[in-house]
Amino acid sequence: MKVDRQYLLWGLVYAIAGMALGIYMASSANHIQHVTHAHILLVGFVLSLIYAVIHRLWLQEHSTAVLAKVQFFLHQGGALLMSVCLFLLYGALVPQAQLDPFLGIASVAVITGAILMFWLVLRTSQADMREAA
Ligand code: HEM
Ligand code: HEM
Repeated sequence: MKVDRQYLLWGLVYAIAGMALGIYMASSANHIQHVTHAHILLVGFVLSLIYAVIHRLWLQEHSTAVLAKVQFFLHQGGALLMSVCLFLLYGALVPQAQLDPFLGIASVAVITGAILMFWLVLRTSQADMREAA
């Protein structure tokens, strides 16, 4: 399956999970998980959707296949780890001291994914420019 479709499907799974948590918060009048909800939807859904669109519009997959997959796993791994840890943290299910290292790893994975996406776009546009010249 192409990376753009994988991003789209995973993004929609995060949309469903994030909105389900939003409906739970609204109906229980307990908004304690609002930070978890925000990051599931923004890091999981919105960023995945943006990465899917970037792949579809600007990245030629054949020239960036391995790096594109590494970028995908970094972002999705980071988003999943971040979502689970935030849920455990704000639900007071696991002490913060135990979760901090994992939240650190998740944050580094998400930002490394963003840096790698920047590099993929930069590299592709340079290759395009060389082809056009
Ligand atoms: C079924 C749909 C949704 C429901 C029922 C819902 C419900 C909620 C609730 C109850 C809060 C807490 C409000 C507060 O205590 O201040 C909240 C916050 C938030 N929601 Fe949603 N939400 C939904 C969809 C979305 C979507 C689609 C996004 C983004 C793509 C989103 C982004 C946010 C953000 C960023 C916050 C945090 C705002 C802040 O406190 O700074 N929500 N939502
Ligand atoms: C490396 C990734 C990220 C880290 C480590 C991070 C960390 C944080 C922290 C520490 C807060 C404050 C939480 C609190 O009030 O207790 C926060 C809030 C927030 N972040 Fe992030 N964030 C990241 C990525 C993002 C991204 C990519 C977006 C949007 C696309 C985003 C949107 C928000 C929003 C809307 C809030 C306010 C949430 C609320 O008050 O409910 N974050 N983030």
